[in-house]
Amino acid sequence: MAVKIVKAVRAMHRKADQMRRAGQRIALVPTMGDLHEGHLSLVRRARKVADRVVVSIFVNPLQFGPAEDFAAYPRDLARDLERLDPCGVHLAYLPEVKEIYPEDFATTVGVARLTEGLCGAHRPGHFEGVTTVVAKLFAAVKPHVAVFGQKDAQQTLVIQKMVRDLNLDVEILMAPTVREADGLAMSSRNAYLSPEERREAPSLYRALMLGKNMIAQGERRAPRVVAAMRDVIAPLCHAKIDYIEAVDAENLTPVAVLKNSVLLAVAVRFGKARLIDNAPVRVK
Ligand code: PAF
Repeated sequence: MAVKIVKAVRAMHRKADQMRRAGQRIALVPTMGDLHEGHLSLVRRARKVADRVVVSIFVNPLQFGPAEDFAAYPRDLARDLERLDPCGVHLAYLPEVKEIYPEDFATTVGVARLTEGLCGAHRPGHFEGVTTVVAKLFAAVKPHVAVFGQKDAQQTLVIQKMVRDLNLDVEILMAPTVREADGLAMSSRNAYLSPEERREAPSLYRALMLGKNMIAQGERRAPRVVAAMRDVIAPLCHAKIDYIEAVDAENLTPVAVLKNSVLLAVAVRFGKARLIDNAPVRVK
């Protein structure tokens, strides 16, 4: 059965109301398209927890900085819909930019503190763009549950915080990162990598695994772990490190001593691609 397409916000409201009236639990998987196995794993998770799965595809201009890759971001709607077809997705919500951001658009949603570090420090305005569009997607699709990826752990925590602070009635689930055979986290931006950069890109995963192993072996000094991770990536010809950090897994502030729940997080540029990855670690 072909995936139904809805473009207008009001049509999406009507569909959402119909599903809710029929007692169906709605799951939303928000995406920017260029769907890969990582997105499809979110869809599979969504199917397990809901009767109806809506996938939104919208390349959100508000979350890209002026020097970032909004124009170049890969777009292939026909291929995306083909990929969704066998996955049991009931509806693809494909809003237009002019309906999401009309000319007189003047309201944004921002989450303080959690957005200050990690990617927030390197991409000013990015998370405000994300929370604004996700709030609008929630308003349109009226989901009971929404699924995001562990690869974007900061994004998922920020959205969880937005939901709590605004008393939105949406459950936020975080699904595990899907990786290539060599450990590289799946991402639409992997397509920007040259063959040489692609060879170096799994270093993010290697660094994270090294950090995790050091902690498993008893290292509790965060600067030691971060320095060892840096030594994996810094010598590579094509890598430019944005950050390598060990942060508290709940409030995302850097820690000196590793205890309780920690997130090891990395962001590295390879040419045109900015790659992020992370590893949650439970410190015994
Ligand atoms: O993770 C993404 O693809 C985007 O940030 C999201 C959540 C779809 C919002 O545009």
